[in-house]
Amino acid sequence: MSTKRFHVAVIPGDGIGPEVTEQAVKVLRAIAQRFGHSFDFVECLMGAIAIDKTGLPLPLETLEVVKRTDAILLGAIGDPKYDHNPAATVRPEQGLLQLRKELGLFSNIRPIHTYNSLYHLSPLKHHLLEGVDILMFRELTGGSYFGKKERSTDGLRASDEYTYSREEIERIAHPAFRAAEQRKKKITLIDKANVLETSRDWRSVVREIALRYPEVKVDYLYVDNAAMQLILNPKQFDVILTENMFGDILSDEASVLAGSLGLLPSASLGTNTAMFEPIHGSYPQAAGKDIANPIGAILSAMMLLEYLELHDEAELVRQAVQWSLTNGFVAKDLNPANYYATSVIGDVISDIISNRIPNAHFQDKHQAVLSSSQMENIAIGKSTII
Ligand code: IPM
Ligand code: MN
Repeated sequence: MSTKRFHVAVIPGDGIGPEVTEQAVKVLRAIAQRFGHSFDFVECLMGAIAIDKTGLPLPLETLEVVKRTDAILLGAIGDPKYDHNPAATVRPEQGLLQLRKELGLFSNIRPIHTYNSLYHLSPLKHHLLEGVDILMFRELTGGSYFGKKERSTDGLRASDEYTYSREEIERIAHPAFRAAEQRKKKITLIDKANVLETSRDWRSVVREIALRYPEVKVDYLYVDNAAMQLILNPKQFDVILTENMFGDILSDEASVLAGSLGLLPSASLGTNTAMFEPIHGSYPQAAGKDIANPIGAILSAMMLLEYLELHDEAELVRQAVQWSLTNGFVAKDLNPANYYATSVIGDVISDIISNRIPNAHFQDKHQAVLSSSQMENIAIGKSTII
């Protein structure tokens, strides 16, 4: 087994960000220990917490540190005190957007699949959820998010410029097609080509690129129809390719298929480093209460391991997460009547990775038989169950 050393920047951010990131770091430490790797974690400031401490949502120091690391793990960004103040000139989200732009993280990958132990949490009928496995490619550094923002001098009119160049479309379309080749060989471009000029460019670029991937079937859907199809028949999707804002909206919608927004991870890739973050926000109402769901963050750490080509390590995290979901070690969003603390879920998953839960067999349908004292130890927050 070859052992490796990696530098990982950790940006806990705001709200529940620090709590969920802590669990993801815990899991990475367990992986490092089990496989003999080492991760050097450097904590960095971004978001509302950075504004409070330095006046800037993305301090220069953070930018410099993250540029030198192998990967970035991010919690969440946002604070209600800015949400209710439209006149604020400095906002936490600017830090995240600037970071994505500065690092050229144009490709945001959001996997969505369903877990049968969680079907009851989705408003959809079970037969619609079986076998859902979607990989969404959301363009992350273009479109209305990054266009020029203007306001008329009388303050009565505002505008957000919305542009895409062919190059911006090409560079995300290729990885999306390559992913489709490895999967069910189907890609759906979601746009609004009946109205938007930019969307017509997306269609023509994708049509050209498709010629180079003859095995991949391409579908084109308008975003309004796609929003409906995701609920009516989510199984029809394999790889979804879409622009920044549509991807933001559709990924929150798609999270109801899984059962909770708290479950979904994402990877943002570009040319140099890569960033891994759950798709959920900072959920300020839950901050500091140890009730947030850490699975989105932990699965983001799993995607980080994949990115570092630590595939066995990533697979172990995936299985440990699956095991904890199947066996009911879930946060409040998944089971309000009987839930475990954020930190306990992190401990359980780390303990599985460290092989400290001997009865946790993954292979046989993730069924485990824990003794009542083991269950009790988990319930009182003792990580080591034996
Ligand atoms: C996301 C988030 C961000 C986005 C916000 C926090 C700026 O909603 O990553 O989906 O809109 O991209
Ligand atoms: Mn979002």
